[in-house]
Amino acid sequence: MKITVIGTGYVGLVSGACLAEMGNDVLCLDLDPAKIRILQDGGIPIHEPGLGPMVERNVAAGRLHFTTDIDEAVRFGTVQFIAVGTPPDEDGSADLKYVLAAARNIGSRMDEYKVVVDKSTVPVGTADKVRAVIAEALATRGVTLPFAVVSNPEFLKEGAAIEDFMKPDRIVIGADDEQAISVMRALYAPFQRNRDKLVVMDTRSAELTKYAANAMLATRISFMNELALLAEKLGADIELVRQGIGSDPRIGYHFLYAGCGYGGSCFPKDVKALIHSGAEVGQGLGVLQAVEAANERQKRVLVDKIVQRFGEDLRNHRFALWGLAFKPNTDDMRDAPSRVLIAELFKRGATVTAYDPVAADEARRLFGADERLAYADSPMDALAGADALVIATEWKEFRSPDFGRIKTLLKHPVIFDGRNLYEPSLLKAAGIQYSPIGRVTP
Ligand SMILES: NC(=O)c1ccc[n+]([C@@H]2O[C@H](COP(=O)([O-])OP(=O)(O)OC[C@H]3O[C@@H](n4cnc5c(N)ncnc54)[C@H](O)[C@@H]3O)[C@@H](O)[C@H]2O)c1
Repeated sequence: MKITVIGTGYVGLVSGACLAEMGNDVLCLDLDPAKIRILQDGGIPIHEPGLGPMVERNVAAGRLHFTTDIDEAVRFGTVQFIAVGTPPDEDGSADLKYVLAAARNIGSRMDEYKVVVDKSTVPVGTADKVRAVIAEALATRGVTLPFAVVSNPEFLKEGAAIEDFMKPDRIVIGADDEQAISVMRALYAPFQRNRDKLVVMDTRSAELTKYAANAMLATRISFMNELALLAEKLGADIELVRQGIGSDPRIGYHFLYAGCGYGGSCFPKDVKALIHSGAEVGQGLGVLQAVEAANERQKRVLVDKIVQRFGEDLRNHRFALWGLAFKPNTDDMRDAPSRVLIAELFKRGATVTAYDPVAADEARRLFGADERLAYADSPMDALAGADALVIATEWKEFRSPDFGRIKTLLKHPVIFDGRNLYEPSLLKAAGIQYSPIGRVTP
């Protein structure tokens, strides 16, 4: 099949590469010339495990191409995936300007049947808007052409995006057009050889399904974070509570880890957008408002603990920070808890030396040349002479460090752990003061 993917970010590039891997001819369009240049030169603009070799393999096989040329991109694919960003607008609603611009580009150029597939996360009713924009562009040209609009939300996780796309739990297809449904069925057949994973529904339900999934996961995290605060006050251990409830199959273990808040490009903006969608139709979403408020508070919990230990005035204090990315295996720092942490430490006069295996360049881009933020080449390098260690991302390489060395390198043997990586008794034995989230420390 000939497929165009519009938007070559985390979702678009992974989707394009995986569709090419299955033998399709894929052209990825992006309006950012720098991104396309990197790809055309054989590079990868983001960090995503396994993506580099897959892109390289499919480019070499002649199945995967990159362009900034909209005319070429619209002409190319019978299926046109829209995978552009939907960032939050000032009022928290999803900004649809990129999605609708992509739709307009298709309508003003197409000259044969197209299946337009919305993969971006978009509010309920967007498929109707996309349909209207394409119809309007066609009418302006005075042409009548058949086309279908499908909602196909993406559930991949950054850091495991290839695995998720290649072996999806489910493939949600929102469509009311039989021809388009059979195109989607054929397109996804190679990804579901052991069982049918297609869940076909109307476009509105498909659009809401994506928000419901992210809102549910964010709710579990905020619920556990709030319980962790309670556990601290009551002298209970949230980690034991997690195991105690996760063993119930109705609850399960996933997304029950207490920590320093959720971040990333999806949960924060999608929770906000869903609350906004509710408000627009007069439907309050109190649970989600609480989820968001709990998360905002949670992103400051580590700073509260630091202030409790070192005082409000942190001038002349330097903190080692392990982890900048919002989660491991990605360089994405959108809404990352580390950003709030760094900003709050700066506000109190502190400086930070950070280490992250892949996100330092992204941090440099976000913070610019700020002398208060230095970067270390290894976890241990970040510690030398720092007052204490703060952990914001659960990278594997942080899980089993040499505590003896940590103790020697830090000015004060204190670890503020926003990801509950260590066994409190072990740190006690190592002579380190350990400050995790919601755990009993001996
Ligand atoms: N990142 C994730 O983990 C994830 C997971 C599931 C769903 N989503 C959703 O998928 C969508 C894309 O997310 P992302 O993280 O890949 O975003 P991204 O910011 O990484 O990439 C979006 C790309 O679209 C390009 N673009 C914007 N307008 C364009 C246009 N008119 N034509 C061509 N290119 C254009 C931008 O230059 C950018 O490179 C969002 O709606 C997001 O909510 C993201």
